[in-house]
Amino acid sequence: MSVKVVILPDARALAVAAADAVCAVVRRKPDARLGLPTGGTPIPTYEELRQRESSGDVDFSRGVIYAIDEFAGPSSNTPGTNTAFYEEHLRIHPAALHCPRSDAPDPDAEVQAYATAMRRDGGLDLCLLGIGLNGHVAFNEPGSSSASRAAVVPLAESSRAAYADAFGSLDRVPRLGMTLGIADVLESRVLVVLAQGAEKAVIVRAAIEGPATDAAPASWLRLHADVTWLVDAAAASLLSPRAS
Ligand code: PGA
Repeated sequence: MSVKVVILPDARALAVAAADAVCAVVRRKPDARLGLPTGGTPIPTYEELRQRESSGDVDFSRGVIYAIDEFAGPSSNTPGTNTAFYEEHLRIHPAALHCPRSDAPDPDAEVQAYATAMRRDGGLDLCLLGIGLNGHVAFNEPGSSSASRAAVVPLAESSRAAYADAFGSLDRVPRLGMTLGIADVLESRVLVVLAQGAEKAVIVRAAIEGPATDAAPASWLRLHADVTWLVDAAAASLLSPRAS
């Protein structure tokens, strides 16, 4: 068990490093299955991937993308849903992009079927992840065990507050999310975690150097044999000095 941490000078360098990691997997395996997150952090990475695709540097046309989570309740064209996020920001052209339907009548059945289909298709080759201010990974909020599986989960109030702008106001942010569980994420062959900005420094230190605990679900990622944290200098500012 080893956690690799790469500290990058800024958001631009982080996006280039994350895009390198994605492209390395896709070049090795053109039909790779990629789990991709939403959030502010990966947007420059997705722009970098779009540019590399349009310049012919990488071909995603056989790749398959899986959302790692989605809100439960709103219709899929509601601004703020992850479906809307992928449409706006992930402007590459894979063979398929799968996301649980936010307006599924039975969200529990929806997310179970989604995760079962993902597993049946062979599981993820690479899962890119962000980390929430409270240590969440996908929608696995504090209290999530390392054995958690795909489920409908309540969103932390602090997380809902972070999504208020995307939905237009706090009261429009759904209270429930559909998410892959920590155990599902840990089954991906490779994990790459992105963290950016000074406000993430405390939780990044807790996740990488603190105890592995339900209190910071991102701390479970160290259980994976091939996990790399790509962290900008501001988010890395509280980490102990290290070689990489
Ligand atoms: P952020 O979100 O990239 O917008 O900080 C990260 C997350 O909540 O996973």
